[in-house]
Amino acid sequence: MCTIRLAARAAAALALALAAPALAAERPAGKAGDDALGTRRYADYDKPQACAGCHVDISRQHEQAMMSQAFTHAWDEIEYFQLAVPHAEKVEKVKGVKAGCNGCHAPLAFLAGDIPPKPVAAGTRANEGVSCDLCHTVVARGGDPSVNYNWISEPGKTKQGTRKGVKSPYHATRENPFLRTAEFCGTCHNEQDPWGVWVKSTQLEWKESPQARAGIVCQDCHMPPARGRSARMGEERADIRQHLFHGAHDAGKLAGVAEVRIHPESREVEPGDPIRLTAVIVNAKAGHKIPSGSAEERVLWLHVEAKDASGKVWPLRVDRKGFPGEEYTIADPKALAYQDIGEIQGTAGFQGLPRDGLVPAGDRIFRLPYFDEKGRMTIAQWNTAKLGTDYRIAPLQAVAETFTWSPPELPAGPVTVTATVWYSRLVSSVAEYLKVPRDEYEPVLVSTHRTTFTVLP
Ligand code: HEC
Ligand code: HEC
Ligand code: HEC
Ligand code: HEC
Ligand code: HEC
Repeated sequence: MCTIRLAARAAAALALALAAPALAAERPAGKAGDDALGTRRYADYDKPQACAGCHVDISRQHEQAMMSQAFTHAWDEIEYFQLAVPHAEKVEKVKGVKAGCNGCHAPLAFLAGDIPPKPVAAGTRANEGVSCDLCHTVVARGGDPSVNYNWISEPGKTKQGTRKGVKSPYHATRENPFLRTAEFCGTCHNEQDPWGVWVKSTQLEWKESPQARAGIVCQDCHMPPARGRSARMGEERADIRQHLFHGAHDAGKLAGVAEVRIHPESREVEPGDPIRLTAVIVNAKAGHKIPSGSAEERVLWLHVEAKDASGKVWPLRVDRKGFPGEEYTIADPKALAYQDIGEIQGTAGFQGLPRDGLVPAGDRIFRLPYFDEKGRMTIAQWNTAKLGTDYRIAPLQAVAETFTWSPPELPAGPVTVTATVWYSRLVSSVAEYLKVPRDEYEPVLVSTHRTTFTVLP
């Protein structure tokens, strides 16, 4: 690219810089969590475009990451405006979420007291989501543990970073070790709802993980270092932190996140004998449980099916283990849930929606069910009075599932058994009911394995 254009862009960025008002020093010390509501103005924060002229790659990466879309993408807009806001306006107990959702999803709107923010189409600065200047003005957190947007932001000319003595023509920099910690991420990745239930606990799950004990933090997996420059005129460095922030919206991140291996108890069986297979599912890739975060909406499941020598396909049901609450972990097309959606939206006669969406009957679901006050499963994490049995897969742990199959007599010959693990970001019945676009919940194949045994003649 021609240097004149580069220079012009840098100059434009600089002009924006000089236009940016309000130095942090003129304002009171930042507040944390709910106390920060309405304590700032939009104009205290730089727009992402002000950073993009120099931090080109990081800006393009961040635009493609979910945090820049935390207010704008379809499912967020639907859940906030069609469920959370009407609910908050109707029910005293949850009235705080009208502002609170924005503490994490549209932090600039929260700080500016622009509540509720205008819809996405209005193009306000709420749309910036978790922006550059929000994270890079966080100086500390307001308490231990990290929860409910208890970050403290001090906007102004000084950008918080993690290196010493870095020089920029646009801003001052400050080395702030807090940005390197999982606790920083936890300020938004842990959430307690109006009942005091921990409805998001990614950083707390991480704290119990072997990765945490080994000193591997969120940033190591979600913003790994690569050689390059962080700014056009910056120094080349061996370890520039990539702003990928890829998670459950990235097929590559999901690929193999739950590994599966399956084996039969014996390689040869007499016709008519029961057959037992064991599938082992491993979380070898994530530093927290899978699913994590928005566990109320995510579905991770194991499907096993056999194909006999004649080509006939037999879906197999997982064996019951007998733990309390197990019924929520085995797909049942007849089970209904999410009745609170009808109450929130005032839909007369609403019976609920199929609890497990498109998950085939008898498949094992690795999930943490969320229950509303009336004991029904909910996808409204703010309406959660109680959690069920946590049947998700912990980091660097495996879960064994058995399948005891007593088919009517099978034809002699080889039987192939295939195990597949699937992930869907939102239970399909809820997505279809609320008209969430298909790409927000389309099942993603996570892993697959195949084994065989022979039916003797
Ligand atoms: C005029 C160009 C320019 C603009 C505009 C600019 N920066 Fe920078 N920034 C730099 C340069 C150059 C560096 C130093 C890079 C290096 O040497 O590695 C830097 C470094 C940084 C660092 C690293 C500091 C550290 O200690 O690790 C952060 C964080 C940062 N910028 C954030 C921002 C944010 C946020 C914006 C927008 C609000 C922004 N920058 C706008 C040029 C710019
Ligand atoms: C100001 C609040 C805030 C902070 C601080 C924050 N996050 Fe997030 N993060 C969010 C929100 C909100 C989303 C959900 C975006 C959406 O609506 O899909 C999110 C989404 C993500 C995702 C995408 C998950 C997916 O489903 O694809 C990853 C990965 C992530 N954050 C990692 C991090 C890491 C790592 C840190 C710390 C370096 C961090 N976040 C700090 C608010 C925050
Ligand atoms: C060892 C690597 C590793 C570490 C450490 C790690 N993650 Fe992840 N993370 C992953 C992988 C792999 C996935 C994809 C699996 C998934 O979506 O559940 C993921 C997914 C996510 C998701 C989406 C979860 C979902 O199911 O919707 C979020 C949010 C997230 N990570 C945030 C964090 C935060 C915050 C931390 C630190 C407290 C962290 N991660 C630490 C590897 C890691
Ligand atoms: C969710 C919070 C978050 C957002 C949003 C975010 N950053 Fe960062 N950024 C970080 C963290 C954390 C680090 C340091 C990671 C580390 O060193 O462990 C960092 C590092 C940097 C660095 C220094 C990279 C290096 O390795 O030298 C620059 C420059 C930077 N960010 C600029 C930006 C710009 C520009 C944007 C917007 C396009 C942005 N950041 C958005 C959290 C964020
Ligand atoms: C404490 C911070 C925090 C609060 C408060 C919060 N969220 Fe979130 N939200 C997150 C994070 C972090 C994620 C990403 C988790 C993951 O990927 O698993 C997320 C994910 C979501 C998603 C799923 C996005 C997707 O693409 O799959 C929706 C929808 C959502 N939030 C809506 C809301 C609504 C509505 C409220 C208020 C009732 C709210 N959130 C309150 C932090 C928060």
